[in-house]
Amino acid sequence: MALLDGKVAIITGAGRGIGREEALLMARQGAKVVVNDLGGHFDGTGQSRSPAEEVVKEIRNAGGEAVANYESVADFKAAKRIMECALDNFGKLNIVVNNAGILRDRMIFNMSEEDFDAVIAVHLKGSFNMARHASAYWREQHKNGNLLNGRIINTSSDSGLLGNAGQVNYGAAKAALAAMAIILDRELYRYGVTCNAVAPLARTRMTVEATPAIGAAMGEVKPNQLDPHSPAHVAPVVCWLASDDAKDVHGEVFRAGIGTVWLMKGWHSVAKVQQRGAIWDPVALGARLKEELAKGLTKKESMAEVMAEGATESR
Ligand SMILES: NC(=O)c1ccc[n+]([C@@H]2O[C@H](COP(=O)([O-])OP(=O)(O)OC[C@H]3O[C@@H](n4cnc5c(N)ncnc54)[C@H](O)[C@@H]3O)[C@@H](O)[C@H]2O)c1
Repeated sequence: MALLDGKVAIITGAGRGIGREEALLMARQGAKVVVNDLGGHFDGTGQSRSPAEEVVKEIRNAGGEAVANYESVADFKAAKRIMECALDNFGKLNIVVNNAGILRDRMIFNMSEEDFDAVIAVHLKGSFNMARHASAYWREQHKNGNLLNGRIINTSSDSGLLGNAGQVNYGAAKAALAAMAIILDRELYRYGVTCNAVAPLARTRMTVEATPAIGAAMGEVKPNQLDPHSPAHVAPVVCWLASDDAKDVHGEVFRAGIGTVWLMKGWHSVAKVQQRGAIWDPVALGARLKEELAKGLTKKESMAEVMAEGATESR
């Protein structure tokens, strides 16, 4: 019995990179897969059917079941059609992996309104769109006594969890996707649905072509050696989180890649100063803050440093 036997999964942006690996692995683990991909450039322009078609072909050639879908997750009505694609072809839906993504990096003072909106539309609105339609379907099914153990896995990023200059649009969306996973989990757990977020680290066109500094931190691919930065390293945790076995792991945020899975912890109080019965004087408050809060100040981790870990290990 494979991990995802009998499951139906939608993976958005599954025509390339990380989503492709997730689709291939989930299909190998028994899931029937909707391979959604608009097939555009990394900045979100253009479209092509061939990335999704190729992945469906690969899955079918390996004996799995898959169907292609070319809609944009950014469009609310189109997102509903992505869900209906699963229902029409496979009769139900269990798993949604919100993976589709684009990049339009600029420093804040140079970023156009369009660059901000386009990135938010695909990552944040697109993930909302998919979750909105799937959750209404799961809640309805739950009311009718049909327990589908729904699973949503959002794709976050160190850009949002740690911060990365030049990505105010992308990082804000990715931080929101981690928050969204926690909130959706709190809303949907009662219906048997879990939600988690995964921040990947992988060699894809998004890191090699779109963010050359991150790409360079990974080093070169060594011939005849498993690439430590292969997107295939991200898929296993996503695949497991999608399974029934993972029902008790929910509302969490992970980082995955380089053969490693990190459990991440975000906003939580680490220090406080308090005064009762009077309003703080700002100067006195500042002095106490400098003294007390220094202990809790954040160590600045960077995505490039984490990527470089993999390059060091492979030497
Ligand atoms: N590669 C990394 O190290 C890394 C790090 C952090 C986060 N991520 C995230 O992982 C996800 C996958 O990225 P990747 O690195 O595999 O990049 P990628 O560019 O190889 O793949 C993204 C896919 O999404 C598709 N897509 C874009 N807009 C779409 C839309 N509106 N509707 C449907 N499909 C659409 C693209 O056509 C593409 O095939 C993204 O959400 C990305 O932000 C990647």
